[in-house]
Amino acid sequence: MSKKEISRRTFLNYALMGTGGFLAAGMITPMIRFAIDPVLKTSAAGDKVAVGNVSDFGPEPKNVNFTLHTKDGWYESETTMSAWIRKLEDGKLLALSPVCKHLGCTVSWNSSEDFKNEYFCPCHFGRYAINGEHILNTPPTQSLDEYEVEIKDGKVYLGKIVPNPRPGVSG
Ligand code: FES
Repeated sequence: MSKKEISRRTFLNYALMGTGGFLAAGMITPMIRFAIDPVLKTSAAGDKVAVGNVSDFGPEPKNVNFTLHTKDGWYESETTMSAWIRKLEDGKLLALSPVCKHLGCTVSWNSSEDFKNEYFCPCHFGRYAINGEHILNTPPTQSLDEYEVEIKDGKVYLGKIVPNPRPGVSG
């Protein structure tokens, strides 16, 4: 076997490995999507998760973290979710998603010295009022999404995330 032939073979091996890697990447990406999708589907299907007792919540927004456990065939996963919950004037509970509607950073209640009693997003100074209404002339142009809330036997259950119908307000 000449040096030239070995060189060609080596080149062919590299080329095959490269093609194999490319094909593997093409297969793995959809597999990862497939694995993650059940989380979204379970949420969209309306499965609800208990996050506390009704008596735990008052007019001041309170942060809760909870775990969404999903199983789809052989694949099981756990996703940590978060919500800000408060009791509205009519006694109903409002549970807001902390995901900023601008570019998806995490907002938190009363976390800015300059903007008291608001949700504040530190990424680009996005601001929201107490019921998630986006404050006009700040980057977000939609109000914070909310979770579907169900009360059963004194316990609070959160379901899928839906758009918040409240319009923007002046700051
Ligand atoms: S991501 Fe929240 S203001 Fe930009």
